[in-house]
Formats: sequence, structure tokens, C-alpha cells
Amino acid sequence: MIFIILDGKKTAETLMNKIANDVAALSDTITLALIMVGKNPASQVYVRNKIKACNEVGIQVKEFFLDEKLPQKELMKIIADCNSDSSIHGILVQLPLPNHLDEDAIINAIDPLKDVDGLTIINQGKLMNGLDAIVPATPKGIITLLQKYFVDIAGKNAVVVGRSKLVGKPVALLLLQKNATVTIAHSKTANLRDVTKRADILVVAVGKPLFISADMVKKDAVVVDVGINKVEGKIVGDVDYVEVKEITSYITPVPKGVGPMTIASLLENILICYKKQLATQETA
Ligand code: GUN
Repeated sequence: MIFIILDGKKTAETLMNKIANDVAALSDTITLALIMVGKNPASQVYVRNKIKACNEVGIQVKEFFLDEKLPQKELMKIIADCNSDSSIHGILVQLPLPNHLDEDAIINAIDPLKDVDGLTIINQGKLMNGLDAIVPATPKGIITLLQKYFVDIAGKNAVVVGRSKLVGKPVALLLLQKNATVTIAHSKTANLRDVTKRADILVVAVGKPLFISADMVKKDAVVVDVGINKVEGKIVGDVDYVEVKEITSYITPVPKGVGPMTIASLLENILICYKKQLATQETA
């Protein structure tokens, strides 16, 4: 069967070139405050990749690598300081946080204009209402990638497996905005196979290696795999790519699919935050 690989790496590179040009044309230095608490090994890899990407496009990173046992009050103080520092344009708190910290309180302490992850209630509420939100990077990157390949979304049955606020819920809202008929499935969904089998567009974000097998996928479906799982030293997605690709029309590989799009979209969000702050200053 002929299928088309949704090449996130190549698409992200084009995006990053454009972002680098945009950054170079600005008179201000754009700065991201990147906050990580503890030493979660997966987070360390993600954070390293984010810093590298920022450096590549000329965005400065102010790193806050903080002790695992950091008290909540101290983290809230760091965020308050970043909020009021006009030389910082974006704030990213890497998740997950250690258990003693109140994630909701910490995320929502971020100024929504500096919320590059689009995780504050303000930005999630704006997205829900179709307003001008900062959209979380992974869902945004997925839509950009589908559009790059002219994948039809309107009128299609889209099934999202996973309901996190970082990926599942926002990608479902974005697909709905594009007039797909959207179903959100999750770990408690009965007869998951019957649900995924109806999907013209299947987005999988469950964090379980090779969770989606070929018998769960409709012929000629578009499959987007958000998973990044390490199995015996190798990175694999949530979709059994080798088997599933044969029955799809389009599919994202892992790696080089959604991952690079997430990073490029994060960089876009940092620039959007910068511009929103400029606009606010000008109208003040
Ligand atoms: N942990 C895994 N993915 C992400 C992300 O996109 N943003 C943040 N802040 N934490 C994450």
C-alpha cells in the first residue's frame, strides 16, 4: 500500500528557519525562562532539546534548574519574579512536577501573556471559546503538520485517544474548530477498538508503547502518533508503526514526527507571547 509519511522533522526545520529570521529582525533579545524542578530523566531530555532549539533560532534561555525538594513558596516567588521581569517574554515550567508541589496553582501563577505552553486556565478557557489563545505546542504542531500536507479535516471523524490538558483535550478542540466530528477516547472507553476503527483521523496520546495495532485502524486513515516511549533503548510511539502504516493514507513516524513539530510550535509560541506583550505595552 502507498502511504505518505507526515515528515515532522522537515516541516519543523522550515518553520524554525522562518522563526530564526523573525527573531533576527527584532531589536529586542527574546528570552524564555525555563523552570525544571528535580531530575526526571525524560524531562531532562525534553528540556535539553528545548534549550538547543531556542539557541538555534536565537532565543535566549534563562535556566532555573531547581532542587527536587524546592518548597512551593519559593517556586511561586521565582514565577512572580519572572512575571514582573520585562526582559523575560516566556515562562515554561516543565511537567511533571514533584508530588509535593501543587501543579495547578503553579501553572496558573504564570502571567497568561507569558504562558508559552498555553496551560493556564485563561489560555485554556480562551481556546475553549475560540478566542485568541496561546495554544499548547503539541496540538498546535499536529494541526500545522496536517495542514502542511493538505489533509482534509472538515467533516471527518476524528478520534483522539488521550484526554490530557497538554495534548488530548486541546487537540480535540482544535480539530472541532476545523469542523471535524470529534470523539475523545481514554483509558475507561469501552470497546476502544470499535471507536478507533471509525476514525478518519486518529490521534494517539496515551504514552503506552505500540498501544494501537493494525486491527484498530480504519483503512486509509490519517494516523498521528504523539507517543515517545523508550523500549529496550529504542524510541517507539504509541502506534505499531510497522504494521499500521500499511493501511493508512498518512502517518507520522516516531521519532521525526510530532516531536519536532512540538518544539517548533513552542518557539512560535514564545514569539507570539513577545508580540502580545509588546501590544499590551503599546496600548497601556
Ligand atoms: N512535559 C511533557 N511535555 C511537556 C510540555 O509540552 N510542556 C511542559 N511544560 N511539560 C511537558
